[in-house]
Amino acid sequence: MKLVKLLANLGYGSRKQVAWMFREGRVTDAAGDVLYADDQVGHADVRVDREPLDPPLGLTLLLHKPPGYTCSTKDTGRLVYDLLPPRFRLRSPVLSSVGRLDRETSGLLLFTDDGQLLHRIISPKAALPKVYEATLAEPLRGNEAVLFASGAMLLEADNTPLKPAVLDVLSPTQARLTITEGRYHQVRRMFAAVGNHVVALHRSRVGGLALDDLPEGEWRALDAADIERLMAAHG
Ligand code: URA
Repeated sequence: MKLVKLLANLGYGSRKQVAWMFREGRVTDAAGDVLYADDQVGHADVRVDREPLDPPLGLTLLLHKPPGYTCSTKDTGRLVYDLLPPRFRLRSPVLSSVGRLDRETSGLLLFTDDGQLLHRIISPKAALPKVYEATLAEPLRGNEAVLFASGAMLLEADNTPLKPAVLDVLSPTQARLTITEGRYHQVRRMFAAVGNHVVALHRSRVGGLALDDLPEGEWRALDAADIERLMAAHG
């Protein structure tokens, strides 16, 4: 691929803007020699303003989402994309979030520009477990775990019952819930259906991948071993 297209696809600017970067001599090889728009040079050998290029296509990353950020490219207020390098929003193919977390939910959020991988992760067939820690307004009654595990719980406005989910009670008002679906506001609606209210929600794990010690607001790119781990754990 010609460098002008490679850089435009990575979000460095429109083709016109990128063409100017070449004219200004801002694009070089690792040795500092100026490169040209039509050159075809390997990704690892290109520098822009002496910096290596952003990760190539096939980028998948994990963000520790703080509360208060919306999973959208163009909503009002703070967006999850504000926590990533600005160029990532302009990449082609687009870097999209894998499902969504509510604005006030924190925790593990994946992004990828690999459409096939995205479908593999969210596919009902994969049934990847998603683990949430919920802080509740009311003490648990004690019958929630059985109901959530039943496979017969029907949420208001849904046509099909929820797949069995696992509830671990951590304290009277703290619970860990593992679900294998991704229905709209699912965790909040499940607790609302048993007369409770989620006051804080955090996703700690998807499939075999956890946040580990990634600080809130930070992201890291996933490698092939991470993706294998992500997909290895089935519900
Ligand atoms: N369930 C919810 O209710 N909210 C989320 O953000 C994720 C799962």
